[in-house]
Amino acid sequence: MIIIKTPPQIQGIRKSSKLAAATLEYLSKFIQPGICTEKLNTLAHQFITNHHAIPAPLNYGGFPKSICTSLNCVVCHGIPSTNEILKEGDIINLDITTILDGYFGDISATFPVGKITPTAQNLINRTQQALNLAITAIEPNKYLNESVGKVIEDFITPFSFSPVRELGGHGVGLKFHEDPFVFHFNSPQNHILLKPGMIFTVEPMINTSPNWRVNIDPVDGWTVRTTDGALSCQFEHTILVTDSGSEVLTKL
Ligand code: MF3
Ligand code: CO
Ligand code: CO
Repeated sequence: MIIIKTPPQIQGIRKSSKLAAATLEYLSKFIQPGICTEKLNTLAHQFITNHHAIPAPLNYGGFPKSICTSLNCVVCHGIPSTNEILKEGDIINLDITTILDGYFGDISATFPVGKITPTAQNLINRTQQALNLAITAIEPNKYLNESVGKVIEDFITPFSFSPVRELGGHGVGLKFHEDPFVFHFNSPQNHILLKPGMIFTVEPMINTSPNWRVNIDPVDGWTVRTTDGALSCQFEHTILVTDSGSEVLTKL
């Protein structure tokens, strides 16, 4: 069941989403060779709690940290660690979800660490473009798969890149993960009419290979990696369907 949010709920989710976006912007300034992902986690935890909010990942289904930090071939759900030190040429996704007054906002972005390869930069640019194209295509009375999955798949596959299929976006706001599951390829399961007041994330994970397959780390049970070691990149926003189109709630 997809929840249609009320105006007060939308206002609460907007406020939480803006805090998530502000946290991401704050963290981005610390990204440089030599910093460990645990330090980014600590900075994010402090920033979020100083703003009277809760980092949603902490203890979610047993997740041990306050943000996800996903490096290079890690697709998502990377666990911050003192052993993981950023180095020149890496790409890193930071995924921030806040709970403010009970409302959830969810955002992520991928950043270069120092100078990166042209392929890595192209992957970042194309993934961000894919997300923006989908956002622009979101309108009431259109189908979710036509606006999101099809737009992203059609845009990304000519580059010999691929959208990950096993993970997707999600309804969000009153809970961390609500209906619908949002596919980043054209799936008949997303033949759902968009309605004003729906709020969901769009968060394409794109691999630099036509192979979209992923594995979960058998030791930590969380870290998702590409099966072929290809680089993976992700951008995420929390989106409200409005009367005329969409509003990015996770903007500053
Ligand atoms: N923020 C992620 C998403 O976009 C979910 C992270 S779940 C966690 O849906 F447990 F790993 F934090
Ligand atoms: Co999300
Ligand atoms: Co997220």
